[in-house]
Amino acid sequence: MSDERVWWRDAVLYQIYVRSFADANGDGHGDLPGIRSKLDYLEWLGVDAIWLTPINPSPNADWGYDVSDFYGVHPDYGTLDDLDALVADAGVREIKVLIDLVPNHTSSAHPWFSDPAKRDWYVWADKPNNWRSAFGGPAWTKHPDVGRYYLHNFLPEQPDLNWWSDGVRKEFEETLRFWFDRGIAGFRIDVAHALIKDEQLRDNPIVGKAKESREERVYNMNRPEVHEIYRRWRRIARDYDPERVLLGETWVPNLAELAKYYGGDDELHLPMIFPFTLAQLDAAELSEIVEGTVQAFPAEAWPVWCGSNHDIVRFPTRWCGGDEAKIRCALMLLLGLRGTPILYYGDELGMEQVEIPASEQLDTAHSRDGARTPMPWTPTADHEWWIRHGDLTRNVEDMRGDETSTLWFTRELLAARREFAQTMTTLDTPEGVWAWRRGESAVVAVNLGEQSAAVRGVQGRIRLGTRGARGGESIDGTLQLGPWEGAVVLPQ
Ligand code: GLC
Repeated sequence: MSDERVWWRDAVLYQIYVRSFADANGDGHGDLPGIRSKLDYLEWLGVDAIWLTPINPSPNADWGYDVSDFYGVHPDYGTLDDLDALVADAGVREIKVLIDLVPNHTSSAHPWFSDPAKRDWYVWADKPNNWRSAFGGPAWTKHPDVGRYYLHNFLPEQPDLNWWSDGVRKEFEETLRFWFDRGIAGFRIDVAHALIKDEQLRDNPIVGKAKESREERVYNMNRPEVHEIYRRWRRIARDYDPERVLLGETWVPNLAELAKYYGGDDELHLPMIFPFTLAQLDAAELSEIVEGTVQAFPAEAWPVWCGSNHDIVRFPTRWCGGDEAKIRCALMLLLGLRGTPILYYGDELGMEQVEIPASEQLDTAHSRDGARTPMPWTPTADHEWWIRHGDLTRNVEDMRGDETSTLWFTRELLAARREFAQTMTTLDTPEGVWAWRRGESAVVAVNLGEQSAAVRGVQGRIRLGTRGARGGESIDGTLQLGPWEGAVVLPQ
């Protein structure tokens, strides 16, 4: 039974890379009216909420993740009125809107950074320590006017905020309320694990020998004091009805450490589980991570799973090498697990990573352009976009007209998962196969191997198979799966 107070537990989230999703005015990049014009599609697909990558004004040194005003909308994307209209129209369709919040750093063009009264809002040192930027090179740059070094865990154009400062904390609590009051259902919190740095700015330990040596990021992220910030934010989220959701970009490899971001249901509702996203498409490896989260998180916690996002290679390429059978298996497990799945725009089509020639690279920070290409709405490109299109063979128009397509398959999965109970029990399976029960009787089974295999103890009717033809087949005890085949079986 769906419970409105914890609506995200039954939800499918859909990440929209705003710049590349839908362009209403034809100026070559996506915008908020564009997203609004695609709400019919999102409703048809069956998603419950959308997460928009940063919509704030930004000089775009890191494509929106360098914010110069936390209370505005980037003119490329529209206005606050456009956002209000999007939230309202989405609401009519029972689609909630989450936005990205980037509290770890600002743009160097943010007025705070040049305001002498706000010097202590940033992190300064007379002598840099050994921290390295996540984008390479030292994490410190000398400020020509101030004469001291400022910290930037990312680009020099992204100075890190000083979260030891009460001014910064108060400001962001205002920011949360500002957007929550506008009807924003929650935030995806950028670099959520890194806001607080070691107060003494100690050097990170260097581990490994000689050429293999690397910095262990002990003091510039995942500090214990970060949790207090989220406890405060959670109290703010709880002041709203329905409670606003905190989805954290938590790059924390250790599952026990990661679970601390959930806390005792008093921090982030949904800390992202990157060990899953970065694993191989391998039954043993993925199931170990899923079981590991069950062990590490409190029983009432709720996981969140994704295969793609704007920073990594899209899963249809990375996990599946473009193979349709594998893509369907990946979609089935992503949408079948106990937890909240996030689809990245285009995942529902099996949209692949795009090769971008070096001369066209726009992401100077990290070469992530190939995961950020325009949503393929039609078989031919309608106009020039800020970034090139990929192969348009998989496109919404054609796939929507073909009920055997992966787009329809994804839509059917979204419908089928509504019948799942919230519990999950893993079944014994042959090697390469991963299967589990949702509630008492629904079964999700995927064969991620090259051999045919049998899953025992399954009763019911195939609601949906990765190979279309098996829908409706009755299963009495044993579910046979071919290589790279999956099925959702529901009671008769
Ligand atoms: C997050 C974002 C990424 C950005 C970085 C710095 O990891 O997802 O796109 O470059 O933060 O803000």
